[in-house]
Amino acid sequence: MEISETQNKMVPPRHIAIIMDGNGRWAEQHGYLRVKGHEVGAETVDRMVSACAEIGVEVLTLYAFSSENWQRPALEVAALMRLLRHYLRRETKRLIEKNIRLRAIGRLERLDSAVRKELEEACRKTSSGSGMILNLAISYGGRDEICDAAAAICREVQSGKYTCDEVDEKLINAHLDTSGLPDPDIMIRTGGEFRISNFLLWQLAYAELYFSDTLWPDFSKDELLRIIDDFQQRERRFGRVIERGKYERDR
Ligand code: FPP
Repeated sequence: MEISETQNKMVPPRHIAIIMDGNGRWAEQHGYLRVKGHEVGAETVDRMVSACAEIGVEVLTLYAFSSENWQRPALEVAALMRLLRHYLRRETKRLIEKNIRLRAIGRLERLDSAVRKELEEACRKTSSGSGMILNLAISYGGRDEICDAAAAICREVQSGKYTCDEVDEKLINAHLDTSGLPDPDIMIRTGGEFRISNFLLWQLAYAELYFSDTLWPDFSKDELLRIIDDFQQRERRFGRVIERGKYERDR
């Protein structure tokens, strides 16, 4: 499926967030070890990054490793970290060529120092990219992020920088890892489960949610374009009543 005429005329979603689920099941279905599913999943990451950049998406957030994923068998955690390093080494040059800026959210201090160094290096090297932001959620949990923001705000209230009455959505947004990014317009979860699994709990407040049965390694640009097409037909009211025919997307 190519970008349709309707899509051409319409504004692309600013921010797409994806829970990339189903790598393990894909591997089992094909008679491989789970790690192979993650490897093929990393190829889907490449395709989706290119597709989103081409469509004009401003931010693509990928849930690469959750705070709960640390509880997986040590071998699988090590394989995922190795894959991440390979990805950063392999892709940084291509991200620069595509003018994509890399950013990461999550408790990155928990990462092994070699992975963290690679990640910081890739973020630094791509920092002048003025096109899409590729935002990797690594060692990320939505509740952790909210706790960290609350603790930071408490410290600032204690120091006299703000009063309690000044704590509002704007201030909380500014203390989240995603500070400065627009909220996701679309959240896609592949792999057939209907959960958000501690992903962007604050930021998904008004996102349109899409759950696909496709396992992440099989997720295609065609399916992404179909989701975007559907999104563009949805009426987003943000809690308000909109007069028929007068709806314009609130950004
Ligand atoms: C969930 O599938 C997927 C993950 C926990 C890791 C996602 C990682 C990648 C797609 C590859 C590496 C990422 C980058 C950015 C290079 P699952 O293992 O829970 O699958 P299952 O539900 O079928 O077991």
